[in-house]
Amino acid sequence: MKREQWGSRTGFILAAVGSAIGLGNIWRFPYMAYENGGGAFFIPYIFAMLTAGIPFMIMEFKLGQKYRGSAPAALKAVNPKFEWLGWFQVGIAACIAVYYVAVIGWSISYLGMSFHQGWGSDTNAFFFSQYLNLGDNSPSNLGSIQWKIAGTMLLAWAITYAAIVGGVKSGIERAAKIMMPVLFIMVIVLIVRMVFLPGALNGVNYLFEPDFSKIMDMKVWAAAYGQIFFTLSIGFAIMLAYSSYLPEKSDINNNAFMTVLINCGFSILAGIMIFSVLGFMAHQQGKELTDVVSAGVGLAFVTLPAAINELPAPYILGPLLFLALTIAGLSSHISIIEAVTSAIIDKFKVGRKKAATLVCGIGAIVSLAFATNGGLLLLDLVDYFTNQIGIVLSCFIEVLLIVWVVKAATIRNYVNSVSDFKIGIWYDLCLKVVSPAILAITLFNTLKTTLTDGYGGYAQSDLLMLGWGLLALLIVIGVAINVLSKKEA
Ligand code: ALA
Repeated sequence: MKREQWGSRTGFILAAVGSAIGLGNIWRFPYMAYENGGGAFFIPYIFAMLTAGIPFMIMEFKLGQKYRGSAPAALKAVNPKFEWLGWFQVGIAACIAVYYVAVIGWSISYLGMSFHQGWGSDTNAFFFSQYLNLGDNSPSNLGSIQWKIAGTMLLAWAITYAAIVGGVKSGIERAAKIMMPVLFIMVIVLIVRMVFLPGALNGVNYLFEPDFSKIMDMKVWAAAYGQIFFTLSIGFAIMLAYSSYLPEKSDINNNAFMTVLINCGFSILAGIMIFSVLGFMAHQQGKELTDVVSAGVGLAFVTLPAAINELPAPYILGPLLFLALTIAGLSSHISIIEAVTSAIIDKFKVGRKKAATLVCGIGAIVSLAFATNGGLLLLDLVDYFTNQIGIVLSCFIEVLLIVWVVKAATIRNYVNSVSDFKIGIWYDLCLKVVSPAILAITLFNTLKTTLTDGYGGYAQSDLLMLGWGLLALLIVIGVAINVLSKKEA
């Protein structure tokens, strides 16, 4: 069967940018930057973008384009022993997909409420108690399904399903061509309005003012690398799948630079937008910025609604903000699901519709766990293990295996042969030395602190089962498929 292809180069870039720009940029980046010392986060973030983001993007585009397969198929083509890594990545994508859709679901609910600020004045109590209905639950004691959340999540699933079933060109590419321009226009309108609010520049200042004492903190580096991989959709099967639909001779260097720079530029714009709003809110309440911001996952759903309450014309700016978040989330969710669907299509030679129905059907059912009372806690735990450990581990193994077998210079020569502008020897240095060294150190550090201190105050049994156990299960499944395929071959 002939492999599907993108309709145009612009279509591919928009889809890749659509995948990269997501909740990671609007929901995660600002709170990551906030929690990791504001401006201090930028140095490791930009460093991670240059030494890992761009080199990995070029590497994944090359593997996908050359071997024309989803993650397991492409890695198998490099060496049959590497197929398991592809399945591990697909497993991570599947886990992310089921909680990611919950945040899109919240965003859709908040979009609806934003027309009349239905969250009231105490946005903290509203989000945790009324909306999520988080009682004394835990990640393993989830309570019952909250159907108002489940309903919006199912709507998100329906949109994702429609795009995936439509196929690469008529579904995914078409969705990206509509969603991305709309998103860019909305964010530009929002930024232009927000930065002129009183106090806004104090907020922006906070984001850019470096706190150098944090630079030596390994946690900040681990967060920056984790964020770069997550935001660029690298290391969890997505960019391999998307680039497998490229024509044989597309310009890899240009595509990779554009995708990374547009995405990271967007993150900074989103950061400016969110921090302008926070600065404005602090100004209105006569408080310090640090006193009005709620850290972590609540930033978008507690602090932003509180700020919207104070904005001029909240019934316009509020819906714009939540529509932007929803669209960014959906275009990424489509790519996460495509990473899983394409792997099933390639492996089991089933049609797109059957594979998409299976993936979205099972995904929708599993995702209901995140629509429960304790869903937020489960989400927080699974997000930590899949991102900070799973993706970083996957990227670490990927770079070791690929640099070892394919060699950095071979990748460089190949991509230079199909690209207008050439990359130099710095590329080899990043893949062979800088990235593996930093990934090894940050990974070791994250594993050590998680093993000794746990995470987020969750019970050890929950961490063992839903964190470590989940990662181990994904690796075991990957290896099992790999062994079985070898036997069949
Ligand atoms: N890259 C996507 C995001 O940042 C997954 O949300």
